[in-house]
Amino acid sequence: MKEKLSSILEAARAELENAADLKAMEDLRIRFLGKKGELTAILKQMGSLSPEERPAMGQLANTVRSEIEARLAEKGERLRTELAAKKLEAEKIDVTLPGTAMKVGRRHPLNAVLEEVEEIFLGMGFDIVDGPEVETDHYCFEALNMPKSHPARDTQDTFYINDNVVLRTQTSSVQIRTMEQRKPPIRIISPGRVYRSDTVDATHSPLFHQIEGLVIDKGITLADLYGTLDLLMKKLYGKDTQIRLRPHHFPYTEPSAEVDLMCFNCGGKGCSMCKNEGYVELLGSGMVHPKVLEGCGIDPEVYSGFAFGIGLERITMGRYGINDMRLLYENDMRFLGQF
Ligand code: DAH
Repeated sequence: MKEKLSSILEAARAELENAADLKAMEDLRIRFLGKKGELTAILKQMGSLSPEERPAMGQLANTVRSEIEARLAEKGERLRTELAAKKLEAEKIDVTLPGTAMKVGRRHPLNAVLEEVEEIFLGMGFDIVDGPEVETDHYCFEALNMPKSHPARDTQDTFYINDNVVLRTQTSSVQIRTMEQRKPPIRIISPGRVYRSDTVDATHSPLFHQIEGLVIDKGITLADLYGTLDLLMKKLYGKDTQIRLRPHHFPYTEPSAEVDLMCFNCGGKGCSMCKNEGYVELLGSGMVHPKVLEGCGIDPEVYSGFAFGIGLERITMGRYGINDMRLLYENDMRFLGQF
């Protein structure tokens, strides 16, 4: 039995020395120390020894077990350290190598200006509401006091899905939807896409963007309209900016006004940019027509309000001095990268 124990120890020493990885180590542990292992098999034979022989043999068996355990632990530790070192070596990166420059995206100029406008109106207590781009004839025209025969429809010729459903030509449709859903006081803006069957040129596109505004409350006057738009334009274009209201006609406002911006190029003196006018046309606006209010269940004897529709492209082009609308849609990085 003594010889067997020392031959087990010899074998364990040699094999452990040769074990190449943790898997081999585990196999050896099972082979020598496991429940069905070689050492265990010997211990099971202890019973056959004489009582005198047993203590010495038991002690020897324990010594052999301890040594194998110690060697297993030591070799295991060594293998793990080696493995970690190899892994570190394999994953080494040279942080001094020049990196690959990443292109950082930025907001499109239309979005940048829209966000600015939204911030300004939020600051004045307006909500931002959304409306559908595929709209019914009712919301796009009819409820805005533009019945089927109305000539103003011609200037807003659009894409018809069927007789009653159109791609909206103006965000004014959201005025009606809002007045149907909310009770005054109402203060909203509604930005979004609009569609007209226009031919593409430097100032026209079949798809463009508007920002609609609507305020309804008791005692709202043209002065509120003026004050609101004046503040907006001063925030967008600087405190010396001036606007002027020019009489106009829209079927859904009375009185109606076009709002012009003092030419930022010549400061009102007249130049080629403003066609010697000193002002450039900016947006349509007016006091909401009593018939429109009534149609939405708002009593025009109690409430009044103003509305406006701003072309986002126009104020963006003015803001950045862009002279061709098409540039805004071409997604040319050489252009977009400038903002
Ligand atoms: N809807 C007009 C357009 O597309 C702009 C406009 C004019 C909006 C007067 C309004 C308004 O809300 O009151 O040209």
